[in-house]
Amino acid sequence: MVNETVRRRHSLTYFVVFSIAMALIASGCNTLKGSKAIRPIKEYENMIIGRFDADYVGTANCLSACHEHDRLKQDFDASTMGAQLKQESGLPLVDCESCHGPGSIAIQGLTAEVVKQNSQKGMKTKCDANALINLKLLPAPAQSLICLKCHTANATFNLHNWSASTHSINDVSCFNCHHVHGSPDLKVKPIKTGRMCFECHKATQVEFVLPSHHPLNEGRIFCTDCHDAHGGSANKLLRKETIKETCTQCHPEKRGPFSYEHADVMEDCLTCHSPHGTVNNNLLVAREPFLCLQCHEGHRITSRTGGNTSAESRRAFYSRCTDCHSRIHGTDLPSASGKGRFTQ
Ligand code: HEC
Ligand code: HEC
Ligand code: HEC
Ligand code: HEC
Ligand code: HEC
Ligand code: HEC
Ligand code: HEC
Ligand code: HEC
Ligand code: HEC
Repeated sequence: MVNETVRRRHSLTYFVVFSIAMALIASGCNTLKGSKAIRPIKEYENMIIGRFDADYVGTANCLSACHEHDRLKQDFDASTMGAQLKQESGLPLVDCESCHGPGSIAIQGLTAEVVKQNSQKGMKTKCDANALINLKLLPAPAQSLICLKCHTANATFNLHNWSASTHSINDVSCFNCHHVHGSPDLKVKPIKTGRMCFECHKATQVEFVLPSHHPLNEGRIFCTDCHDAHGGSANKLLRKETIKETCTQCHPEKRGPFSYEHADVMEDCLTCHSPHGTVNNNLLVAREPFLCLQCHEGHRITSRTGGNTSAESRRAFYSRCTDCHSRIHGTDLPSASGKGRFTQ
């Protein structure tokens, strides 16, 4: 009897807890379904700087106090992002506070008179930068969110896969590659990517100076020809779905189809080649004949194969296989015996 009551009371408690939980989840879902920030972005930025009384004061107020003549401001005004200050464009207004957060506290007390007095004394007027968002100290994902509040996947198409990209997952942030104040030209020129990427990819840098390498340092190929730093659906941040597609965009003669194909080996060029550089000729991962001997046996040139078995030809046995099998990527011409041996 007692047990029965306790059990009933328990199930009642469970019911109440369950209902509250469901109600909470449902209301949470509604908020999420609504697809808007749970609180306005301004409030988050206030939270980051730790002051709820900070407010946005606009570029003019900010700059009259501190950055009036800075190269930084001139560059920004000349950039695509700064140029959007023209309201007619319909694009979001980008100003200093878009990234640095509300600035009212930073410029507190900096009236025009103070600035004037200081400059008469030959002094620059500094704002209290500590009252702004400390961008450098933010963890990487939070840094990126500063940019992503405008550069959403919809607004900036190449960021579609950012969140799932190896870079994002490994705490690389937009700031690591894009230096907003670096120059007025925010577009990343391909030629700049080598240095940009080598900052972290030292091993890759070494590969590009090996005896055989893709001519990257020579300015004829770029990291971004093959990789998309912002991620994608392919492995290794590659732009194309497969290795073969990656390579044949510039080496179309290797694409085939051929009457005589090298089985499906050709689907993955990396079976035999390295993408960046190697110590062997032709970016090969191993020297011939060892490259071929991984999958084939060496052979004599017999009468069957159109040669003889003299000492001379036996030496050919383990030499460069492609001296004879010169069409190793596939061919439309049969060999002497009428088969596909890639000899012509
Ligand atoms: C699109 C975002 C963005 C906008 C807009 C922006 N900044 Fe910055 N700013 C940054 C980032 C990111 C950093 C540097 C963080 C770092 O060094 O890693 C920075 C750094 C700075 C610094 C410190 C420079 C240094 O060398 O340490 C100053 C000063 C500055 N910004 C002023 C401004 C002013 C003035 C404006 C408006 C004209 C402005 N910023 C607009 C993102 C922005
Ligand atoms: C307040 C909104 C806003 C914020 C925040 C913002 N951007 Fe932008 N950004 C824009 C607009 C608008 C443009 C110009 C239109 C365009 O090219 O998409 C632009 C342009 C750019 C461009 C040049 C694109 C081109 O094709 O020339 C780059 C690169 C860029 N932003 C990077 C960043 C980075 C990195 C951050 C974070 C530090 C950032 N942006 C933060 C709105 C913003
Ligand atoms: C690992 C380096 C790297 C990171 C991290 C990175 N980018 Fe880029 N970004 C590039 C390179 C390289 C290009 C130019 C070629 C391309 O689109 O791949 C570029 C291009 C862009 C462009 C177009 C402007 C242009 O030059 O064509 C925008 C906008 C942009 N990035 C925004 C962002 C934002 C926002 C983030 C953070 C969410 C970010 N990027 C993170 C390297 C990077
Ligand atoms: C701030 C450092 C940093 C910069 C700059 C950087 N990367 Fe990375 N990259 C990483 C880290 C961290 C990883 C993940 C760990 C690893 O593989 O080393 C990574 C991984 C990669 C991978 C392997 C992806 C995978 O799925 O295994 C590729 C490809 C790559 N980066 C290309 C680039 C290119 C191209 C650039 C220049 C546009 C670049 N990275 C710039 C830090 C960086
Ligand atoms: C010709 C196309 C091509 C170019 C150019 C290229 N890569 Fe790669 N990269 C690849 C391929 C393909 C892979 C995948 C290798 C694999 O799956 O084993 C790769 C792999 C990587 C990796 C993963 C680690 C590794 O070595 O396997 C990094 C990091 C990387 N590349 C960075 C770069 C950087 C940085 C640049 C420019 C300096 C660059 N790549 C230029 C095609 C290229
Ligand atoms: C963006 C264009 C481009 C892409 C993509 C590309 N290559 Fe190349 N490749 C080149 C250029 C340019 C050369 C140098 C040709 C020359 O010097 O005449 C080259 C040379 C080569 C060589 C000869 C190297 C030597 O030492 O003579 C091989 C092998 C090669 N590529 C294989 C590949 C493979 C495998 C891939 C895919 C992972 C690939 N390429 C993707 C442009 C490209
Ligand atoms: C079974 C091994 C193997 C595979 C797989 C392979 N290659 Fe090669 N590749 C070679 C060998 C061996 C050479 C050197 C040829 C020579 O010395 O005549 C070479 C040379 C090259 C060259 C430079 C010389 C030339 O013929 O232009 C390019 C470019 C090239 N390969 C691209 C590719 C591409 C692209 C793929 C993938 C579609 C690929 N290779 C797949 C073995 C291979
Ligand atoms: C990753 C394994 C692999 C490598 C490396 C490789 N091959 Fe092959 N090769 C194959 C396969 C699989 C076939 C198809 C075999 C078959 O159909 O019996 C083939 C077929 C051939 C054929 C035609 C033989 C026949 O029976 O039709 C020749 C000739 C050949 N390869 C030469 C070479 C040479 C030369 C190299 C080095 C440059 C090489 N292969 C590297 C796997 C490889
Ligand atoms: C001196 C020229 C020459 C050299 C070097 C050579 N081959 Fe051949 N190979 C031939 C000829 C000729 C055939 C027969 C072609 C035909 O069917 O008409 C052949 C046939 C083959 C076949 C088809 C199977 C068979 O026994 O008929 C394979 C596999 C093969 N070679 C692999 C290799 C490998 C691997 C190497 C390097 C270790 C190599 N070859 C070196 C000339 C050569």
